[in-house]
Amino acid sequence: MASKFIMPKQVISGADALGQSKEVIRTLGTKALVVSGKVMNRIGNVKIVTDLLDEIGIGWAVYDDITGEPDDVMIDGGVEAYKANGCDFLIAIGGGSPMDSMKAIGALITNPGKIADYMGKEITNPLPPMVAIPTTAGTGSEATQFTIITDTKTSIKMLLKGTVLIPDVAIVDASFTVSSPKSVTNATGLDALTHAVEGYTSKKASPLTDVFAMDAVKRIFKYLPRAYADGEDMEAREEMILAALEAGVVINNSSVTLVHGMSRPIGANFHVPHGLSNAMLLKVCLTFALDGTYERFADLGRAIGVATEKENDETAAKAFLTAIIELCETLEVPTLAEYGVDKEAFFKVMDKMADDAIASGSPGNTRKATTKEDVLRMYKELW
Ligand SMILES: [Fe+2]
Repeated sequence: MASKFIMPKQVISGADALGQSKEVIRTLGTKALVVSGKVMNRIGNVKIVTDLLDEIGIGWAVYDDITGEPDDVMIDGGVEAYKANGCDFLIAIGGGSPMDSMKAIGALITNPGKIADYMGKEITNPLPPMVAIPTTAGTGSEATQFTIITDTKTSIKMLLKGTVLIPDVAIVDASFTVSSPKSVTNATGLDALTHAVEGYTSKKASPLTDVFAMDAVKRIFKYLPRAYADGEDMEAREEMILAALEAGVVINNSSVTLVHGMSRPIGANFHVPHGLSNAMLLKVCLTFALDGTYERFADLGRAIGVATEKENDETAAKAFLTAIIELCETLEVPTLAEYGVDKEAFFKVMDKMADDAIASGSPGNTRKATTKEDVLRMYKELW
């Protein structure tokens, strides 16, 4: 079967990637809305961008109200700031939240209505030019046609999509990730791993996504423990930001599966950071999904060297699952209880969470058929 493969028009990566992007940025517009968060602004990363814009004679305004995972209210504020300041293109600097916000703000500049109107509907009108500068190695939002925005009225994390949401330019500069604390390095790194593993084992995987997924999984197993142990390990940081980009390219084309489907409702209801709720789910979800495609999980096990051609697929797949569980232990992933989620409150909303997970469509990409009852059982197994 034929498959489509899309990614950002331009990716500028490596040392001083931002400095090398001046010529490209100059062609995008005359005034940028720089979308970011308060922390990024305080630690000086926003200023690095606005200084560069000053240097090349491009106007700017800063919207740094992305104070957590984005919701419709933050997006409306960004649209207002864009219009009030007469901007004609967008730059996001930060983790997945500012990048996702930039896409949603851009969408509402050229598409009518509110962001919630686009749930389950393709966003089609071309957006203003967008530049994504990730400061975490994880979400891969710089390379995807997706944005996740919480609807504050329904507490649903809406997965919105459209090829027009892919940033025009991704600037992948590891120096921005050095400031990530351990709690961000592990959560975002495991988010990237989840993207690569889910993409490789998704029904929608293709020969091209396989290349990116396999490479990302190998890089992450090798370098994420190093980046976690020593945040100043530049080689590890560079390899991880590349892996995150690769994994973003993967889900852009092959979609995520069960883990992400079940993770979003946990994030929406209990405000567990996205990468962390994925990591909490990995063991339970992959244990369930494993026998749906031993051969695919086996490929990954052999790629990271925990199995060889001598072992059969089932044994190699199980070795890969064990390696994932050990990696989560090394990276000190907490349980829901350790994170402080209230068990009673969790069980109260579990039925709705299972409905929301299935409705998102992601579990349907898992090679093993997944029902609401399966999802409910896995939510229970987290306790
Ligand atoms: Fe993710």
